[in-house]
Amino acid sequence: MGLLLLLHVLLVTVVATAPTAHAWGKDGHYMVCKIAEGFLTDEASTAVKDLLPGWAGGDLAETCLWADKQRFRYRWSSPLHFADNPGDCKFDYARDCHNTKGEKDMCVVGAVNNYTAALKDSSSPFDPTESLMFLAHFVGDVHQPLHCGNADNLGGNTIKLHWYRRQSNLHKVWDVEVIETAMKDFYNDDRSTMIEAIKLNITEEWSNEEKQWEACRSRAKTCADKYAMESAQLACKAYEGVEQDSTLEDDYFFAALPVVQKRIAQGGVRLAAILNKIFSGNRRLQSS
Ligand SMILES: *[C@@H]1O[C@H](CO)[C@@H](O)[C@H](O)[C@H]1NC(C)=O
Ligand SMILES: *[C@@H]1O[C@H](CO)[C@@H](O)[C@H](O)[C@H]1NC(C)=O
Ligand SMILES: [Zn+2]
Repeated sequence: MGLLLLLHVLLVTVVATAPTAHAWGKDGHYMVCKIAEGFLTDEASTAVKDLLPGWAGGDLAETCLWADKQRFRYRWSSPLHFADNPGDCKFDYARDCHNTKGEKDMCVVGAVNNYTAALKDSSSPFDPTESLMFLAHFVGDVHQPLHCGNADNLGGNTIKLHWYRRQSNLHKVWDVEVIETAMKDFYNDDRSTMIEAIKLNITEEWSNEEKQWEACRSRAKTCADKYAMESAQLACKAYEGVEQDSTLEDDYFFAALPVVQKRIAQGGVRLAAILNKIFSGNRRLQSS
């Protein structure tokens, strides 16, 4: 009994201290997908619903965290959640989009292109339900600045610090802490209230920018490389003034929150634009 208990404690500790996942937390992904749902055409909305697994209850947002849970089942998918750089605040596809074995395209930008192409092509061998769930997740990830951060500190994961009085790390601050603190302080701890506030900003405050967010000239691919470049630049700002053992509080929070809210908004609008393009009627014609 004593030994078993000890083993159990050890196991729990190992799991709890395993390298942090690269991903917006559950709320960030949910919000990106919820916002996207509101911008889908009827045609795309129907096509998406047809592809959702039964457990989603007809709601795309319910599936947007699925990809994070596949990291152990699909080990190859782990590098697809991010695209770190050598510290120059840029994303360079040829240089940065590969896994640790050097296999090309194995990064979040390659993955967004991969699953977009797979969904467009009805003869693709990949499971379209999985392609949809991967795509919806990775469009979220590419908008989280620290998913295009400095490789030397694993996108902020190795920068341990305090978020107010809690232990955290810089990556986690951008994945979850800013969103959680905002929900507690301003939105009654209610996710849908925060989503509504962001949506209101899209139609009012950002209504002039919104069309530019969607604009993408690339016909063959998506514009995920552009989104990664934006994230890499924002990540550089996120590192400013932050060191090992820093304590981040109100100053950092109030600077980061508007950035996080805008990235969630852009992620949602762009995910919808990608899905609208994929499912715009001529899907069958395109594949041959
Ligand atoms: C593309 O998708 C397939 C099926 O999930 C996967 O095996 C492959 O690694 C993916 N490649 C990229 C670059 O995402
Ligand atoms: C709305 O937009 C303003 C101005 O860009 C920004 O400061 C604020 O954080 C945004 N709020 C939400 C909920 O997106
Ligand atoms: Zn992820």
